[in-house]
Amino acid sequence: MPKKYDPYQNMCDIMDEAASFLGYAKRDYEPLKHPERELVVAIPVEMDDGTLEVFQGYRIQHSSVRGPCKGGIRFHQDVDLNEMRALAGWMSLKSAVVNIPYGGAKGGVTVDPSKLSRNELRRLTRRYTAMISPIIGPERDIPAPDVNTNAEIMGWLMDTYSMLKGYTIPGVVTGKPVQIGGSLGRQEATGRGVMLTVVDYVNYAKIEPATCPIIVQGAGNVGLTAALLLKEKGFPIVGLSDVTGGVYNPAGLDMERAEKHIKGGNMIDTAILHGGTKRVTNEELLELDCELLIPAALENQIHEGNAGKIKATVIVEGANGPTTKAADQILQDRKIVVVPDILANAGGVVVSYFEWIQNLDHLSWELERVNQMLADIMHKAFIDVISQMNQRNVTMRMAAYLVAMERLVEATKLRGIFP
Ligand SMILES: NC(=O)c1ccc[n+]([C@@H]2O[C@H](COP(=O)([O-])OP(=O)(O)OC[C@H]3O[C@@H](n4cnc5c(N)ncnc54)[C@H](O)[C@@H]3O)[C@@H](O)[C@H]2O)c1
Repeated sequence: MPKKYDPYQNMCDIMDEAASFLGYAKRDYEPLKHPERELVVAIPVEMDDGTLEVFQGYRIQHSSVRGPCKGGIRFHQDVDLNEMRALAGWMSLKSAVVNIPYGGAKGGVTVDPSKLSRNELRRLTRRYTAMISPIIGPERDIPAPDVNTNAEIMGWLMDTYSMLKGYTIPGVVTGKPVQIGGSLGRQEATGRGVMLTVVDYVNYAKIEPATCPIIVQGAGNVGLTAALLLKEKGFPIVGLSDVTGGVYNPAGLDMERAEKHIKGGNMIDTAILHGGTKRVTNEELLELDCELLIPAALENQIHEGNAGKIKATVIVEGANGPTTKAADQILQDRKIVVVPDILANAGGVVVSYFEWIQNLDHLSWELERVNQMLADIMHKAFIDVISQMNQRNVTMRMAAYLVAMERLVEATKLRGIFP
């Protein structure tokens, strides 16, 4: 993978291209190429052995033109400002594609959380929350989980923010435990949205699930949920991985065994092997035989070095930004369809929106209602993107950018520029 790849610049380049399709002048969309607000914090944490470490943290608010900023918090050793900017920008586009009244944001801390104890992780989360507290809140910017953060961490965030304000404010964060204001269905929402998008796509392309073997990279919240739901829908899951590597079986993996093993807190290893299943590296996994590939781990996994070797005919992006710009061109030349991240993984932000509404109105909705409303919104977004794609004869990624940019630019024009 080329080291200098810049996902934020890539996003701006696609915006330029989309703007020329839409006939926009520079002034119509230039603000979208600049995050509205960027906060960088240095977070001191007392470690269990009495030493003190200082971690770098970020909260980037890309756009609030369509509503409060919204986006996850990532704890990962590779987090940096440019990655945060790209992730925040994609959130603005994603909220616009599914047409919910949010802007986009992202936050993170440069840390390998697997090296912290639970108490260190809690102190880090609380101090980070306190340091970004001046710019977050239910009306201005609402965080959520992302890579290496979960419901428990969102609960600590909600508690810290509430302690600082002096009363309980569940609406400051989504993806919380259900017992303290989380929504039913939120934890599975991104993976469920990926499944709904795959089902919409195969119906559109007239592909039978049973003849559509799937490989999923990243057996985390998004990837494992999507794999399990797709298996229920009749798709064979032939490959699955985590950061330690993957497993592959052209006859289909034993997903019950995999689910038990992974949900038991284990990394993928030989315990999941069964007749005909072999261990593979993450690099090999992406290039193995399948019909549909779901990268659901991190950015830049499909790049110019491997895009020419991918055997899938369809890629559905569960992760944010898994495909580089150079890879996108190679895939397009090879007629491999890419269902883009800003559509395919939008299920999480949609149910976050439902959670926020429930918090603001002191309500608690049934799971069936949440899942049905999610399905309706995802389907409508899919139709909007497919219509643009066919109308303008563009890739699905460009079509999704066109849908999002039209909504963002329209909102900017209606609001006008202050003062
Ligand atoms: N959680 C959400 O609601 C949500 C919403 C939208 C998009 N996303 C995106 O989905 C992706 C995954 O997020 P998640 O919440 O499932 O995270 P997670 O931490 O639950 O899971 C990440 C998975 O990827 C694996 N992984 C990490 N590095 C890897 C590597 N280099 N190669 C292969 N596998 C690797 C991990 O072992 C783990 O299985 C991210 O790009 C995230 O931004 C998440």
